[in-house]
Amino acid sequence: MSDAIIKLHDFGVAYDQKTVLSGVNTSIRSGRITAIIGPSGCGKSTMLKAMNRMLETQKDAAVFGSVLLNGVDIHTMEAEQLRRKVGMVFQTPTPFPMSVYKNMTYAPQYYGVTGKQELSRIVRENLEVTGLWEEVKDDLNKSALKLSGGQQQRLCIARALTAQPEVLLLDEPCSALDVKSTQVIEELLLKLKETYTIVIVTHNLFQARRIADDCIFMLNGELWEQNTTEELFANPQKKETRDYLQGVYA
Ligand SMILES: Nc1ncnc2c1ncn2[C@@H]1O[C@H](COP(=O)(O)OP(=O)(O)OP(=O)(O)O)[C@@H](O)[C@H]1O
Ligand SMILES: [Mg+2]
Repeated sequence: MSDAIIKLHDFGVAYDQKTVLSGVNTSIRSGRITAIIGPSGCGKSTMLKAMNRMLETQKDAAVFGSVLLNGVDIHTMEAEQLRRKVGMVFQTPTPFPMSVYKNMTYAPQYYGVTGKQELSRIVRENLEVTGLWEEVKDDLNKSALKLSGGQQQRLCIARALTAQPEVLLLDEPCSALDVKSTQVIEELLLKLKETYTIVIVTHNLFQARRIADDCIFMLNGELWEQNTTEELFANPQKKETRDYLQGVYA
């Protein structure tokens, strides 16, 4: 069994005093892909955002309980340090409106890397990992906004990796992409889990099955059931989980 890298303990969230997530106790295992699945509005994005304190940026959100990263309560950490260790990629690709090269050097420069050679190495290595290097190497000064949607999403993943995170959080990263780009991202995530722990929210049950080692099913703001993906799909313990997996609710 891999060690837990993230733990949520009696965790909950309220927006405007309305509870949307409660009583969540879970462990995310290191070096694996965990998928969070469940119907729309059940709290998947909220839980993901809690893992790197993104909810703090929303004034109306209040959090309860604790989130531990490697045993340390993330609320005792500097937000910047935390977000360096726990990177996030969103549903819609969000490249900065600048060149591919600048997207890739933004974080390293912010964290103090100045050498041109070192920066070029970081750019190249992370673009290679995400399979983008061959596609963009001849024009790194091209605006990132001129890449295709799939390329933009891989750039966002590559950019997240430049901060050398331990955990990568992805909120429906493929929902704006076509089948081919989705396949490329899935293959990429399978490769990345050798180095990073990955937590992915997905509406696509096939995707969860294809790539996730562990699976969390959420319902009505609660963590309903969690298991290895294989076991959860083959042998769901609760009726609601079974219904969801059979497509009873959207
Ligand atoms: N900023 C906010 N203010 C008030 N309520 C919110 C806010 N963000 C989310 N909610 C509510 O919290 C609940 C959980 O939302 P969340 O976005 O986590 O769901 P989700 O499972 O990610 O849904 P989806 O699959 O549609 O993305 C929903 O009822 C939603 O309406
Ligand atoms: Mg969501």
